[in-house]
Formats: sequence, structure tokens, C-alpha cells
Amino acid sequence: KPQHDLVVVANRLPVDLRLGEDGSATWKRAPGGLVTALAPLMQSNEGAWVGWTGTADLAIDPFDDDGIWMVPVSLSDKEIKEYYEGFSNDTLWPLYHDVIAAPAFHREWWETYKEVNEHFASMADYAAAEGATVWIQDYQLQLVPQLLRAARPDLRIGYFHHIPFPPLEIYSQLPWRKQVIEGLLGADLVGFQRNGDAANFLRCVRRLTDHTTSGQQIDIDDSEDRLVRRARAAAFPISIDSGRFNKLAKTPEVRARAQAIREELGNPECVLLGVDRLDYTKGILHRIKAFGEVLQMEEIDPAKVTLIQVASPSRENVDAYQQLREDVEIQVGRINGEFGGIGHAVINYLHHSYPMEEMAALYLAADVMLVTSLRDGMNLVAKEYVAARSDDRGVLVLSEFTGAAEELHGALLINPHDIEGTKAQILKAVKMPVAEQRRRMRRLRRRVLTDDVAKWSNTYLATLSDVVTSQPERV
Ligand code: G6P
Repeated sequence: KPQHDLVVVANRLPVDLRLGEDGSATWKRAPGGLVTALAPLMQSNEGAWVGWTGTADLAIDPFDDDGIWMVPVSLSDKEIKEYYEGFSNDTLWPLYHDVIAAPAFHREWWETYKEVNEHFASMADYAAAEGATVWIQDYQLQLVPQLLRAARPDLRIGYFHHIPFPPLEIYSQLPWRKQVIEGLLGADLVGFQRNGDAANFLRCVRRLTDHTTSGQQIDIDDSEDRLVRRARAAAFPISIDSGRFNKLAKTPEVRARAQAIREELGNPECVLLGVDRLDYTKGILHRIKAFGEVLQMEEIDPAKVTLIQVASPSRENVDAYQQLREDVEIQVGRINGEFGGIGHAVINYLHHSYPMEEMAALYLAADVMLVTSLRDGMNLVAKEYVAARSDDRGVLVLSEFTGAAEELHGALLINPHDIEGTKAQILKAVKMPVAEQRRRMRRLRRRVLTDDVAKWSNTYLATLSDVVTSQPERV
């Protein structure tokens, strides 16, 4: 039996499967912030990572990947449909993002969500040594904390919620609202992006369960009202490996590529950039509409500006995502038809994802970065843009409905539903004098370079340890 002292449990493994021409499988580390932050800690603590391979019915044995022990979870087609596409991304995702799209409630999906959560919990149980720390990630696995605690009271259990936690009035729509809260409360520490998310959660705990709270503390009692343990809910805003982006964007290759991108665009006076998973929470349609109307104002010459919109494919089997793709592509076509010229599209729409180097070059090539989410747990793209701008140039236009807006003072904040206000901020960004750009960007960079993802994980894990060691005496 494996004995790991630190176990991360997430829906996905931080590696991508590459199939060779001879059918052989190799794995490539995906450059996510979380795995980068935890890699040193995991390597020195014999860490394991439990997660899905991303492919249906792929049962493989645990394997070592550069010092991290990967523990693959196999999901069947039915489980992918009902647990991942269904309950996670067609029920919880829209519900937790202010019901921007209507959540679908299906009892079969809930059953499968429970089964898959049990499966993840048993894999974590299998991987964890006596007294180990197990850190569960995100909304796909909200029942794992409770399931794991029932099997393994010896463990230190953390959970981090990467997306928003909605207000009680919205959360209450969930037919299984009580079970999900109890699932999360299996953790010693329930982490959120913003104080507001933690406050929403604590209010749901008070209204939907019998547990009492005091500040960030939650008293978990047994059936005879005896205090069993004390959990905590608090905010830990996540970040990126900002040092790495900063360094990457300074390399001659990336700088040359940024230059080349501008040349390929025909050296426009102003390049605007949007980078998102193609998701209805990101406000891509609102952004394109506002950009189109800005062009209509005749304050800037359409021949001299370009919006690059990278929309990486995401959750393509879910209806709402297919519909969004249609809507975005129609609108891009309309605006290009109206304002474009021969050899010049006002919107360069790219339905791809790109490696980190190309992303860094795009950030450097962009005078204005547009982040217009209608609701977003954090938004790491905003932080990546800032980390890449070691030249202290560029303007970040940022939706106030992102977690990032609470930290990134120096950005031009917008309400994406307010098209007039958004247009005004886009114009301000396009016309911003260099001195003001520098002043704002320096302020942003101080924040992003100091508060990186390593600091995030260290703070979270230190607090988890504090919660566990400061438990009250058992009654
Ligand atoms: C969000 C979620 C993550 C998720 C990611 C990509 O950031 O918080 O849990 O992994 O989107 O979505 P996907 O469904 O492809 O994993």
C-alpha cells in the first residue's frame, strides 16, 4: 500500500496523455499554477495526486511523474456524461455562477456525482499514509471531504473551492443543498477565493444545517449535541506562478514573437486582447458588443485597431457551450463584416489553446487586456497579463465581478452589463497616456509578483495545520 504524506485530490491529473505513433502512452506535465506551486512540496513529501485522466475508461496504474506520484481515476462514458458534463458543469457550474445560464437538476446526475465522489474518496484513502494531509480541489468533489473523513478520521483534510460560492437565495435552489454543505464540512478548512464567498458559505451552513458558527469557525456536533470538532471557512485568493511569467516574457524569443504578432496584424496602433475558455461566464458576447459599439463611435479608426480574442475550446459536449460558440462566431462575423477591410479583420478570433510562451507573447503584444466576466471565482488571465508586463506598459480592463478585482487595484474596473460604462473604460484604456499606464501597471505588478501561487498554497496549508492543532479538547 502506498504511503503518501501529502495527497492532492482534483478532478483532473496535472498531466496530459500523449499517444505515440506506435500507440504507446506518455505523459506531459500540464503547466497549471497549482501543480507548479505544489511540486517542490510534493517532491519532498512523497506527494501523490489523485485525478481523472481526461479520457473515458482509461484504467492505468499509478506512476511517478518527476517526483509526484500520479494516481489515475478511471471514469466511464456514463460517469463523464452525468458526473462531469452533467452535475458538475450543467448543474453546479451555472448555479454557482449566479445562474447566468439555467442550471439543470437531474436526480440521476446527482446519483452519479455521489458515486464518483465515493470513487475519488476511496482512491485518496488508498494513497494517504496515517495522519497525512489530503487537499481536495474544487466543486466537482464537494462530497469527498465528508466521505474521506468517515473512512479515515486520522487525516488532516483541506478543501479549496476555486469558483464562486453563491448567496443562500441562489444556492437554495439545489435539491441536494444540505448534503453538499455536509460534504464540504468534512474538511477541517474550507477555503474560498473571496471573503464574500466564505460569508455566503457560512450563511448557508447556519440556515441549512444544525451546525453553529462563530466568525469563521463552524462547530460540528454529534447527534447528542457534543462538540466533535471545529472547522473553519476563510478566503485564500489564488494566484499564478508570477515569477515564471515575468521571466518568460523577458526572454528574447518571447519579445521577438510579440513584435512579430504585431507585424502580422499589420502594425495596428492599438491591439486589444481577450483570453478565455469559451465559457458563458466570461462575458465574451458583452465584450464584443461593447467593442463593436466603440468602433461605431468613430473615436478610433477601425483600420488601426485589432481585438485578438483567444477562446479556448471547453466542455464542448455541454449544450450551453455549443450555443455560446454559435453566438460568439455569429457576432464576430458581423462585426468583421461591418468594420473590417481587405486583409484586416477588426477581430482576430482564435478557437485554440496555446502554449505558455505564445500566451506571454500575446500579453506583451497587447496594449489593452479585456477581462469582462459576468462572474468569475478569481480570473488568472488578469494576473498573467500583469506578470508578463515587465515593461510596465499596457492597461488592464477588469470586470468587478471577478475575484481578481478585489486585489488588482490599478485596473480599470467595469460592470460588463453596463455597455455604456464598458465602452467608456475601453476608450479610456485605448487613449491612456504612457505615464498613467506605468503608474497603474507598477502598482498591479507589486501585488501580483508578491502574492504568487506559492504564497497561496503555503498560507492555506499553514492555516490548515493551525486549525487541526488548535482543536478544542474533546468533551
Ligand atoms: C475552472 C475550474 C477548474 C477546471 C477548469 C477547466 O477553472 O475551477 O476546476 O479544471 O475550469 O475546466 P475543465 O472542465 O476543462 O476541467
